[in-house]
Amino acid sequence: MMKILKLNSISPAAEEVLRGYEYSDSVSDPDGILLRSFSMHDYPLGENLLAVARAGAGVNNIPIDACTERGIVVFNTPGANANAVKELVLCELFLGGRKIVNGAVWTQTLKGKPDLSKLIEKGKGQFAGQEITEKTLGVIGLGAIGALVANAALSLGMNVLGYDPFLSVKSAWMIDRRVQFTDDLNAVFSASDFITLHVPLTPETKGMINRETLAKCRNGVVIINNSRGELVASGDMAAAVAEGKVSRYITDFPDETLLGRENILCVPHLGASTPEAEDNCARMAARELTDYLENGNITNSVNYPAVSLPRSSAARVCVHHKNVREMLSRILAVISARGINVAHMLDQSRGEYAYLILELDDIPDEECLARIRAIDGVLRVRKV
Ligand code: MLT
Repeated sequence: MMKILKLNSISPAAEEVLRGYEYSDSVSDPDGILLRSFSMHDYPLGENLLAVARAGAGVNNIPIDACTERGIVVFNTPGANANAVKELVLCELFLGGRKIVNGAVWTQTLKGKPDLSKLIEKGKGQFAGQEITEKTLGVIGLGAIGALVANAALSLGMNVLGYDPFLSVKSAWMIDRRVQFTDDLNAVFSASDFITLHVPLTPETKGMINRETLAKCRNGVVIINNSRGELVASGDMAAAVAEGKVSRYITDFPDETLLGRENILCVPHLGASTPEAEDNCARMAARELTDYLENGNITNSVNYPAVSLPRSSAARVCVHHKNVREMLSRILAVISARGINVAHMLDQSRGEYAYLILELDDIPDEECLARIRAIDGVLRVRKV
């Protein structure tokens, strides 16, 4: 029985997909790992480990390079929690414009005081705010979440300016034609009253909102970050808020620098915390994991290419290999030397690495697999 280790609390929706697997938070030497935000950076990658599935979008908690080198496929669930995050962003657009949270907290302090209505009318002026209609929203990153946010903000009467140098065809189809696009990030900074971040954390995006980029923003801009905390240099942001350059920073990623400051609203990583999103992510991650473990098919991996074939032959062999010359011919030479016919095959590369599915008319023996394993540049060979 294959074993799946869960490293976070995951919606029970995963259990329906994982029937027939040993699935718990205490299995040893797992074939697969299912997790949310658990940091795997110091976690041992066992010999048996074939795949890691993140029930969510962000994968900065997973040691991707180490996994790739060992032929461990890392999956995420793009879009599965997009609606939940979009709804939080919409809520934060309003909270960014109006001091509802401060006002509500202040109102609680009036309990038991005489002349409540008078006190409210006298004090409410300090919590007045702005409307979002006809304001410009800059959406940085137009993947599954950014695209939904852009469309929803348009329907609320905002002007929307989108920026995404890696815009996919799928997202482009989804996005309302009234969204304006720019390939100049500085244009987003200078034109936006509100900015929302929807990019992954990578070495290129880390600290993208900093003293220099904040200086390019409109005075009084509202910045919303539900993507990853490290996209924003917290000290620079705190200074910009204190000066009034940024009228409000709202983030799903609190840290010590940001807590306890006026006009910085910290949310405890709630973007994907709805039962709907948790079920969707758990189900999708579990399906990706089982399709890979049972069939070798890869969908929504962040480190290996998408490769899927229907099962049609006596045996299937999957090979992770370096994307180098003559690799395929060497692997096929081993197969044909054993007198086995290749019925179908699909090989795709992603950067320095590649993945091959071979559908074979006969079942290869262990020696054949060992010979493929011995080829220089082959990382992992699996009969499924
Ligand atoms: C994500 O990256 O999609 C979120 O962090 C998901 C989560 O809250 O687990």
